Amino acid sequence: MEPLSRRTRRFTFIGVTTGKSAIMRVFPAWAEHLGLGDVEIYGRDFPLHAPPGAYRDAVQAIALDPLELGGLVTTHKIDLFAACREMFDFIDPYAQLCGEVSSLSKRDGLFRAHAKDPISSGRSLDEFVEAGYWGSSGAEVLLFGAGGSSLAISLHLMTARPSEDRPRRIVVVNRSRARLESMCAVHNQLGSDVKVEYVHNSDPLENDRLLGSVPPGSLVVNGTGTGKDSPGSPITDEGVFPERALVWELNYRGELGFLHQAERQVPSRGLVVKDGWRYFVHGWTCVIEEVFEVEMTPEIVGELSDVALGLRSSSSTRDVE
Ligand SMILES: NC(=O)c1ccc[n+]([C@@H]2O[C@H](COP(=O)([O-])OP(=O)(O)OC[C@H]3O[C@@H](n4cnc5c(N)ncnc54)[C@H](OP(=O)(O)O)[C@@H]3O)[C@@H](O)[C@H]2O)c1
Repeated sequence: MEPLSRRTRRFTFIGVTTGKSAIMRVFPAWAEHLGLGDVEIYGRDFPLHAPPGAYRDAVQAIALDPLELGGLVTTHKIDLFAACREMFDFIDPYAQLCGEVSSLSKRDGLFRAHAKDPISSGRSLDEFVEAGYWGSSGAEVLLFGAGGSSLAISLHLMTARPSEDRPRRIVVVNRSRARLESMCAVHNQLGSDVKVEYVHNSDPLENDRLLGSVPPGSLVVNGTGTGKDSPGSPITDEGVFPERALVWELNYRGELGFLHQAERQVPSRGLVVKDGWRYFVHGWTCVIEEVFEVEMTPEIVGELSDVALGLRSSSSTRDVE
C-alpha cells in the first residue's frame, strides 16, 4: 500500500539536487498563502543528461496519475523535452522555438508543455525597465553568456513589446561558439527587427571594451554564472559601465563579483543594479500559475516574494532550485 502522503495531490520538481533547494521549504508556505489545499512538492533528482527512458518514466507518471498536477523542470529542460516531446498534447510556441520545457501542466484533459523562461525573465525585466524605455532612450543590450537564460531574455526583448519599444541592438558574448550558433538559429526563426551581434569571447579585457561600446542607459546582464557557478566575473575591476546602465546579475547568491563591481559604480555612474531574486520568484510563480490556474498579479507575486524571503537560504546549488 502506498504511504498516506502519496494520497495527497502532488507538484513535481525535476532537477539535480532538489532536496537542497529552498523551494522545498518555500512551496508549502506559498501553497498555504495561496490556499492551494492539500498538495505536496515532490523532488525528483536526475544526473545531468540522464537516459531518455528515465525522463519518459517520470513524465508518464505525471501524465497518467490524476493526483499528479504537474511539475517544474530546471536543468533537464532540453533533454527532457527531447525525450518526451511526443507525450504532450500541447506544446507552447516558446517550447517549440527553444526546444525545451520548464512547465508540465494539465488543462481541459490536455497534458501541456510550456517554456516559461522568456515569460519569467520578461516579468523580471518589466519590473525595472519601464514601458517605452527602449523607444525613448536609444539604449542597447549587452548580454554576457549565451545560455538558456540569455536566450530567454533575448526572446523577450525581441518580441514581447511593440516594435517601437525594443532595443535597437543586442550584443551577446559567449565563451563557446556553439552556444552563439544555436542562439542565432533560434533568432533567425523570429524575423525580428532587432539587430543581434554575436561575439565569441571569454577575455575579460575584451568584455571591458564591449562594456564601453554600448550607449548610456543600456541593459548589461551577467548570464554567465560567474560569481556563483564559477568564480569571478565576465569583466575586470577596471571595466566601466555605461552611464545610467541597468545592470542585472541573474543570480542572487554566491560571491556575485559582477554585482559588486556594478554596485561600486552606482554613485559615479548612476547605475540601477538588480540581482536574480525576483527572477527566482517569477520562475516558480509562472509555473505555479499554469499548474494551479492561479492568476499571478504583481500584488500576489510581491506577497509570495516576501513569504519566500523569510525562508531563503544559501544551501541550494542552482538559483531556480
Ligand atoms: N535567479 C534565478 O532564478 C535564475 C534563473 C535562471 C538562471 N539563473 C542563473 O543564471 C546563470 C545562467 O543560467 P543559464 O541557464 O543561462 O546557464 P548556462 O546555460 O550554463 O549558460 C551560461 C553561458 O555562459 C557562458 N560563459 C561562462 N563564462 C563565460 C565568460 N566568462 N564569458 C563569456 N561567456 C561565458 C557559457 O559558455 P560555454 O558555452 O562555453 O559553456 C554558457 O553558454 C546561472 O548561474 C543560473 O544559476 C538564475
